[in-house]
Amino acid sequence: MRILLLGGTSFVGRAIVEEALRTGAEPTLFSRGRTGTGLFPDVPRLTGDRDTGDYDALRGGSWDAVVDVSGYLPHHVGQAMDALGDRVGRYLFISSNAVYAREGVQPGADEDTPRLAPVRHVRRVQDLDNDTYGPSKVACEDDVTSRYGDRATIVRPGQVVGPHDHSDAFTYWVRRAARGGRVALPGDPGQPVQVVDSRDTARLVLRLLADGRPGAFHAVGPAEPTTLGGLIETCAGAAGSRVEIVPVPPEAAPGFPLVRSDHVTQQRDPARARAAGLPATPLAVTAADVLAWDRERGEPPLTRGCSPAEEQRLLDRHG
Ligand SMILES: NC(=O)c1ccc[n+]([C@@H]2O[C@H](COP(=O)([O-])OP(=O)(O)OC[C@H]3O[C@@H](n4cnc5c(N)ncnc54)[C@H](OP(=O)(O)O)[C@@H]3O)[C@@H](O)[C@H]2O)c1
Repeated sequence: MRILLLGGTSFVGRAIVEEALRTGAEPTLFSRGRTGTGLFPDVPRLTGDRDTGDYDALRGGSWDAVVDVSGYLPHHVGQAMDALGDRVGRYLFISSNAVYAREGVQPGADEDTPRLAPVRHVRRVQDLDNDTYGPSKVACEDDVTSRYGDRATIVRPGQVVGPHDHSDAFTYWVRRAARGGRVALPGDPGQPVQVVDSRDTARLVLRLLADGRPGAFHAVGPAEPTTLGGLIETCAGAAGSRVEIVPVPPEAAPGFPLVRSDHVTQQRDPARARAAGLPATPLAVTAADVLAWDRERGEPPLTRGCSPAEEQRLLDRHG
């Protein structure tokens, strides 16, 4: 299967390329040529820029499927579809759980949950914010589906985690749990949390393409429902350490990784995606792999969470 990836060299797309190669598919990558330049030396690369509408490199060739990992704005998607037309068999768009409306959502919500109203006015990716990211993805989904119909597939990941994740959210907890001891948690240890392994997401994508499945699938994990406290304990177990979780008020450290007040967004039903081939890697395996990757890269400073000194202050004040 010949697959064109719009993206493919950072995290989610990178995992999809690795899975494509593992399963004998033939990927071609389209990007600006800035990220992961040394990756996949044997994979053909096309150069262009979605920000400037430069899709000239896509004017020739044909593919069984395109996987659009780097589409955030409807004009991105529209220009890519204009450039590709019917020279792709299937258009698989990587969307997000952020498309779903939050009001009235029940635990166990499936892919038919109402989505937010589409937003089409944002012109630059860097101008997207918490209010427009999801609605802009809604507009992208609508445009892909209306152009390709049964040849459109939408994948809506929740929080994706795994090696090469540069968001630092899960990595913070993996690294912190490995250190052991009293762990400050500015949130509720009983909060449900959903994270999906990037490799599982990639396997779902390749399976959907191989089976030619239309429709929407939200990619959520892990294998068994868990809580934030459970996730930290699992990370500790994977590292061979022992932790004592100490809840502190969320206001003491707002925006902490994986801490959420809207619990129902962390209880989406994985059934449709599992039936279509989403694997269920145990969280302990994902945590061990992230720990190994983080150590191998030398544990650089993280952008999320807090430093040991800041954590000690939280524990002294609230623990
Ligand atoms: N991470 C999560 O938790 C999560 C959750 C839900 C949904 N998602 C979705 O997953 C996708 C993000 O995955 P990722 O960033 O890890 O994917 P990726 O495909 O591994 O990396 C992004 C790729 O896009 C290319 N790119 C960036 N800007 C570009 C431009 N203007 N023109 C052409 N190519 C461009 C980059 O290469 P160059 O820099 O070389 O151009 C890179 O290859 C998004 O669709 C996001 O909404 C992620």
